[in-house]
Amino acid sequence: MHKSIVLLPGDGIGPAVTEAAASVLQQVAANFSHTFTFHTRAIGGAAIDAAGEPLPAETLQACEEADAILLGAVGGPKWEQHPPHLRPEKGLLQLRKGIGLFANLRPVKTFPSLLDSSPLKPEIVAGSDLLIVRELTGGLYFGLPSERRDNGQTVVDTLHYERSEIERIVEIGFQSAMLRNKRLASVDKANVLESSKVWREVVDEKSKDYPEVTVEHMLVDSTAMKLITNPTYFDVIVTENLFGDILSDEASVLTGSLGLLPSASLRKDELGLYEPVHGSAPDIAGKDIANPLGAILSAAMLLRYSFGLEKEADSVEAAVDAILTKGYGTADMQAAPAFTVGTEKMTSLVLEQLQTAKVRA
Ligand code: NAD
Ligand code: IPM
Ligand code: MN
Repeated sequence: MHKSIVLLPGDGIGPAVTEAAASVLQQVAANFSHTFTFHTRAIGGAAIDAAGEPLPAETLQACEEADAILLGAVGGPKWEQHPPHLRPEKGLLQLRKGIGLFANLRPVKTFPSLLDSSPLKPEIVAGSDLLIVRELTGGLYFGLPSERRDNGQTVVDTLHYERSEIERIVEIGFQSAMLRNKRLASVDKANVLESSKVWREVVDEKSKDYPEVTVEHMLVDSTAMKLITNPTYFDVIVTENLFGDILSDEASVLTGSLGLLPSASLRKDELGLYEPVHGSAPDIAGKDIANPLGAILSAAMLLRYSFGLEKEADSVEAAVDAILTKGYGTADMQAAPAFTVGTEKMTSLVLEQLQTAKVRA
């Protein structure tokens, strides 16, 4: 299979983890006789510095033409005081919106070897395996107006949804539940927000098409609590943009590190953008200590969702699991791993594991 992948390294630790994930994809290509070609483009702060804008037209076009996109992270203190349209994060938001990536899948699964890495008790996190389906191109992030008035004495952001936008993400929630344990928690704030009331209506309508799926409406505040007190309660969570953003960082605590979590941002066809859930981590950039596994596991999602390469995706996930089981880890993990290694070493361990698996196959 021949595929073309756009790499968007971005800022901070973004370039290091993107390079790690790309090298893993190269190894997979070698193992399974595929050809992946990579094209690197600028986004975020790096693009502001190089081209004066966070999402150059050329980057957007390359992404639209690619078979899949792999992104590191954007943002950092250097650009924090910039006006909103010249912030790195704007580039990522414009890209998601620009190519219509409305469905963000964020799986959270504890690795048995890392139960002690979570600050939560092992017996609470053991067996946690959930999927957050986050709406990604609507809600508070994109609603207009969003502006200051009267010299900042008044400020407004707008939570806007078209019913059709809610329908398509809820549909993904149900489909995801059908592929898993058939339990769907729809998370909202329907005791306050009108948009959440419509969200509930849509979920109730759609549930008629999926009689096998057990649906529960849950309020976002108590969901935040339950995620920590009883994480194994959850199978699939479907929720709006901002709630999903917050809950997914919270859920990362179950695994022991934000640096481990992957994500896929999808639309109706095969094109997808894959990125770790974490940000550019400016505090540790350039030190060779960033955890590359969130990016590497995002590459596995890329293989699965954009290319339909299930075996290949499994091989990457198995390699990561094997390395963690051997006691290797990075400094961000809560409990010190038996062997703490840096970004490059962790990546080469995963590559060696993939090579060994290939020899055995
Ligand atoms: P962050 O995720 O960058 O960092 C939070 C904490 O986790 C930091 O202590 C960091 O060192 C640590 N961390 C994150 N990823 C890690 C990894 N792979 N390995 C080891 N440690 C890791 O969040 P933040 O500090 O709130 O944001 C920093 C910048 O990143 C901001 O500009 C923000 O807007 C941006 N951001 C970008 C994305 C993205 O590109 N998708 C996501 C979140 C935040
Ligand atoms: C994420 C990030 C982004 C978001 C920011 C950087 C715009 O936090 O991907 O989770 O809020 O969606
Ligand atoms: Mn986030």
